[in-house]
Amino acid sequence: MTTKQSDPLKALVDIISSQTAVLQSTYAQNNSEFPSLNTPFQPTALEFDPNVTAARNLIIAAATQLIATVQSPIEFVASSMGGVYDTVTLGLMVDINVPEILKEAGTQGLHVDQLASATGVDSSYLSRVLRYLAIRHVFKEVSPDVFTHNRLSSMLTKAKSLKEIKEDPNARFDNAPIAASLHMGSTQILNSSTALISFIKNPKQASAPFNMAYKTSQTMFEWMEKSGNGFEARVFTAAMKVNDENPPEIYTSSIQGNTLKPNDTIVDVGGGRGSVTFALHKAYPKLRYVVQDLDQQIAAAKKFWDEKDAEAIKTGQVQLRVHDFFTPQPIKDAAVYFLCVVIHDWSDEDARKILSNIRPAAGAHSKLVLYEMVAEHITESHASAPYPLLPDYAGAGFLTILDIAMLSFYNGKERTSEEYAKLGRESGWQLEEVKPGKLSALIFTPI
Ligand SMILES: C[S@@+](CC[C@H](N)C(=O)[O-])C[C@H]1O[C@@H](n2cnc3c(N)ncnc32)[C@H](O)[C@@H]1O
Repeated sequence: MTTKQSDPLKALVDIISSQTAVLQSTYAQNNSEFPSLNTPFQPTALEFDPNVTAARNLIIAAATQLIATVQSPIEFVASSMGGVYDTVTLGLMVDINVPEILKEAGTQGLHVDQLASATGVDSSYLSRVLRYLAIRHVFKEVSPDVFTHNRLSSMLTKAKSLKEIKEDPNARFDNAPIAASLHMGSTQILNSSTALISFIKNPKQASAPFNMAYKTSQTMFEWMEKSGNGFEARVFTAAMKVNDENPPEIYTSSIQGNTLKPNDTIVDVGGGRGSVTFALHKAYPKLRYVVQDLDQQIAAAKKFWDEKDAEAIKTGQVQLRVHDFFTPQPIKDAAVYFLCVVIHDWSDEDARKILSNIRPAAGAHSKLVLYEMVAEHITESHASAPYPLLPDYAGAGFLTILDIAMLSFYNGKERTSEEYAKLGRESGWQLEEVKPGKLSALIFTPI
């Protein structure tokens, strides 16, 4: 990484080779080898080791930049044009249960004719779709038209067996956040994106691209509450479970329950099933918690708490309440009101309404905490980015996908900390601190 600044190609290759050595030596020190692309994903603690994550991020950033540098711009356009097919081919695989069928078939894999009879989809279409994915390293073609799982494709597998999926198709995405996200990607996200260009050119014509694509004036959340869309609501709940993987310290370190009195109240506004509250209640069982959300989500929350900690509901230590956050906050003087990945769903105007509705309920010592990914300008410099990588090389790729998805669904937005501070000021809250992390905690006090 000491390559002179005039030789970006060499610098990129050096990053790749030095960081690959870091990966290999970290695995060797743990008497294992870096996992092969050919074997299904079996998460070990090493996958989440900070050194492994840092090395991986650098390799991905350097390899991506190397491709962008050496690729013919004409090929770049051709491959960008096809990006939509990643979405639909993955969505199809998940929809027709190919990952579960291949998992149950074992390591020898299946011929597309067998897959065709198991899925009811014509084998010639199947082989083309699988080849599209296999050339992109998702599934492996082991002999002509015979496919098996590999590391990437194995992640598409749902949490239920084929038998369970057949018995209760509506529950098929439960506890499978990756498959659920891909289902949303190939339905609501894809459909909404068809209206994105028209919306951006004339945003006055609808609240968001979603409303244009689905011909509704309701927000996506209201639309999911409608009868007939219960399955989509259930898939959304399953997709949101990806946040359950977050380490609890993200939440506990900003709430600092040890500094609060027993029975001080924490309000989880737009809390979904209350999985963040679940982590907090585990850490600070003496505090009181109120999870607020719309009808369907509170119904899902009841089920979640029944299974996970029925006692907390019985004793009233955790309460689940239907509350529309566009109406005044009913819980007065709570120690903390928090919203986890909620504000990014809304336009500035709506976000101000949500935060302003909490402000009158706050006491002098109440805090408002927002958990969000915080956007940064690509030009902002970070000492940690080696030449010639972009400064925010680690998470910006995903954050910008989320940003456009939020725009498509709700005219929502991933914001910088300055934008959050401004939103706060305009709704009666002063941003005091930003604790950075996978999700940052933005801590406000009443103005
Ligand atoms: C992105 S999810 C986040 C859920 C939860 N905070 C979490 O981290 O898992 C946004 C949540 O806002 C809820 N929501 C949307 N509109 C709402 C409203 N008007 N009032 C209350 N909750 C609402 C949705 O039902 C959904 O559960």
